[in-house]
Amino acid sequence: MTLTKTLSSLTLLCVTSFTLNAADMKEMTITESIEARQEIMKKYKSWDKKLDSQFKAEQADSAILKEAAKFFQANSSDAFLAFFPEKVTPDGVKTAAKSGIWRSWEEFSAITNDVNLQASEALQFLENGDIKSATSSISEITNSCRSCHKKFKAR
Ligand code: HEC
Repeated sequence: MTLTKTLSSLTLLCVTSFTLNAADMKEMTITESIEARQEIMKKYKSWDKKLDSQFKAEQADSAILKEAAKFFQANSSDAFLAFFPEKVTPDGVKTAAKSGIWRSWEEFSAITNDVNLQASEALQFLENGDIKSATSSISEITNSCRSCHKKFKAR
């Protein structure tokens, strides 16, 4: 095989896999996206509850903090934003997402990107045995609920 041929089949391979990924994404309907993000939010809520007693404790349990930080890290930023496709009329399922999300996409993204950053910071603090700072990073995550909901979630 000549170099040109090898290169062009490589290009073809890349184009094909990219197209496949885009197709995979499209397979999720708007209803499925809404259900997926609401499912994530329910988990946020149970973590929020679980963490409350940790914040009240003299010293939080580092294993619980670590699990929480990993959860928030994996379910924020792009992994969360992926379930907010451009607003179209949802076919059936109810959503509390306000249309301001798409009008102020950067502001909305910034909040969940911060959650991701704070989760990463918390993991770093835990790595260094600094439970106090990790607790404070995670408590910032639990403060993000209100600031995001106030503007972007209907009651
Ligand atoms: C970046 C913005 C953002 C952050 C941060 C955020 N939420 Fe939400 N939340 C939303 C949006 C938007 C909805 C509405 C989703 C929908 O109905 O489509 C929602 C919905 C919910 C729901 C309702 C889920 C359902 O059953 O329909 C709960 C509970 C919830 N959030 C809890 C939390 C908690 C607890 C936190 C913080 C630990 C949090 N959220 C952080 C944006 C956010």
